Amino acid sequence: MERMDMRNTPAQGGIVVGLDLGTTKVSAVVGEVDADGITILGVGNVPCRGLRKGVVSNIDQTVRSIREAVDAAQTMAGVEIDTVYVGVAGSHIRCQVSDGVCAISGREVTHTDLERVLEGARAIPVDADRMILHALPREYVVDNQDGIHDPIGMSGVRLQVRVNLVTAATSCIQNVVRCVERCELDVADIVLEPLASADAVLSEDEKEIGVAVIDIGGGTTDLLLFADGGIAHTSVIPAGGNNITLDVAAGLRTPVAEAERLKRNYGCALGRMIADEEEIEVPGVGGHSPRRVARRLLSDIIEPRVEEIFGEARRRIEETGMLEQVSSGCVLTGGAALMEGMVECAQEILGMPVRLGFPVGVKGIFQLVQGPQYATGVGLVRYGAIQLGEQAQKRQERHGSEPAKQAMEAAAGAKGTRIWEWVRAAF
Ligand SMILES: Nc1ncnc2c1ncn2[C@@H]1O[C@H](COP(=O)(O)OP(=O)(O)OP(=O)(O)O)[C@@H](O)[C@H]1O
Ligand SMILES: [Mg+2]
Repeated sequence: MERMDMRNTPAQGGIVVGLDLGTTKVSAVVGEVDADGITILGVGNVPCRGLRKGVVSNIDQTVRSIREAVDAAQTMAGVEIDTVYVGVAGSHIRCQVSDGVCAISGREVTHTDLERVLEGARAIPVDADRMILHALPREYVVDNQDGIHDPIGMSGVRLQVRVNLVTAATSCIQNVVRCVERCELDVADIVLEPLASADAVLSEDEKEIGVAVIDIGGGTTDLLLFADGGIAHTSVIPAGGNNITLDVAAGLRTPVAEAERLKRNYGCALGRMIADEEEIEVPGVGGHSPRRVARRLLSDIIEPRVEEIFGEARRRIEETGMLEQVSSGCVLTGGAALMEGMVECAQEILGMPVRLGFPVGVKGIFQLVQGPQYATGVGLVRYGAIQLGEQAQKRQERHGSEPAKQAMEAAAGAKGTRIWEWVRAAF
């Protein structure tokens, strides 16, 4: 009951729930935000077949999976869930640059000024069937000084911002919201999934000096670039782990479920990492008996698809002209990143250092969200925590209250650094 009360007074912390609607699974992650940071209280993971490439294709199946995942998470956490931060992805997501400008209302830049200038940057015509998800600041200009990432507290009369506007197809978002609302849950906010994943796995240093995040999920591969201290590009490659599974099923003539198992247990993205004599047993389809094949054959099927995905990621990074700026390299998240040889293969194709990204900066039963496939769910909770902090900050600007300060510190403590500073720059 105590927790429920806290949720109603977010200035003192609260419960934040992230809902990751993936192509293969729905995960609900419950976190408690307080002065010590974020504590994971409960997690619910349920397989889901209601989405295709990030877009709802079957409302009933999606609703059922959301219900199951949220039920499991709330039972584990011992709290009642009524509001969620929902992640979205898919090829319908687009990114464009926009500028905003406003007069600084007092002597120095406040949160309210930031809100106004971002509002200005959002005020551009977008297609009737699209909506703006995020205005991600790339840089601020105060009077004539440019290249500013955190203008709060700076003196001046004129504030400008250049943002990346992330837009989405309204109907796709409406379908996601409809599914969540059919579960009697309120949507606190809609968040671009790779933004959430990146926040969960990146260090402050990586964001500062430039990094690429590649989230290889079941249906899609999401790319996000940090350069010049802000988010510089985001796009979606319409292929992921499920394509690899289907390639294996066709190539080895085995049922899809078996192909998935073989991929997870023996798959490798680089054929030359496998000794010639290694063999695996492949179950047949339609009554054909199982046969033994070289494990190398499995990776020969997998490798071209993985190369295709990383090749496309490289092409897109080059297209943005930011290959040089992504100095700290690439971080892989998403379930498909778990396959043997993925890091090595990415390293070769992208020509930069590559590491696996595991969610960091949370306490509690974090073992349950330790895989790269949970980066999105954890990132959504972190996003929600930061919003609590920002709401508190705004209240503090208006009333100067002590609890607001505590909530700010809580959000900051989530990663041992002032993460919300980054969020001011990122979201
Ligand atoms: N150990 C493993 N080896 C290889 N692939 C794996 C492994 N574990 C999971 N995967 C693959 O990861 C994919 C699922 O990843 P993830 O859970 O990140 O996707 P999702 O969030 O449901 O989908 P999306 O983000 O595309 O909407 C599946 O294709 C699955 O086969
Ligand atoms: Mg995903």
